[in-house]
Amino acid sequence: MTSTAWQPPQELPFHWHVYDVGHLLPGGWAGELLDVAREHAVHRVFRPTMTTAREVADARIPMHSVDGEVLRRRLPWTFQLYSGWFKELAERTVDEKLQETATDNRALSLNIQDGITMRYPCHVDSNPMQGLLYLTTCTEETGGALVVARDRAAHDVAGVDADAMRIYPAAGQLYFFDARRNAHYVEPLRRDDAMRAVLTMNYYSPSCPETARPAGLDEQLFGT
Ligand SMILES: [Fe+2]
Repeated sequence: MTSTAWQPPQELPFHWHVYDVGHLLPGGWAGELLDVAREHAVHRVFRPTMTTAREVADARIPMHSVDGEVLRRRLPWTFQLYSGWFKELAERTVDEKLQETATDNRALSLNIQDGITMRYPCHVDSNPMQGLLYLTTCTEETGGALVVARDRAAHDVAGVDADAMRIYPAAGQLYFFDARRNAHYVEPLRRDDAMRAVLTMNYYSPSCPETARPAGLDEQLFGT
């Protein structure tokens, strides 16, 4: 400590909580999700038109995902976890009860990156609690890190990259965090034969209800 004038910041820095849950889930859970992804993943091109996007204006980003409505129909256990055990685990990390979303598509999505051309768009979250259950393991060798800006003014990928945390999740880990202030994206994979898959879960809360969700986001994510 070199300066006696230094004061700790008022706000918490970005932080996350990881539960190691994969070995506690019913056997074959990841395989069932990947089977549904092979059959039902939809290819979309994301355009950053909503207020929470942090991309350059003309960005066009290819994405593969399975919508929550499909997950509800094919793998109802995902919604049992979302509304039950996973919600309880998330609530242990915050001071208020969490709220499920009004629609299945807003609640859950299975996001897939295949090969080196895809990434997940840079954005800030509107929801105060994000849950991420990883099906695959990412390393510095495979790529696919979750890249989170330290600078809360970062407004595109270059701004995030200028000073970022890189998180390499492992299969079976369940992450929870609040990323309403820190822009973040998922970097591309570095190998043609690599795949990245994650089940995403959105929760709102009394202090940040679902009405905070930006206009246009559902249309971009689900084509509705
Ligand atoms: Fe996010």
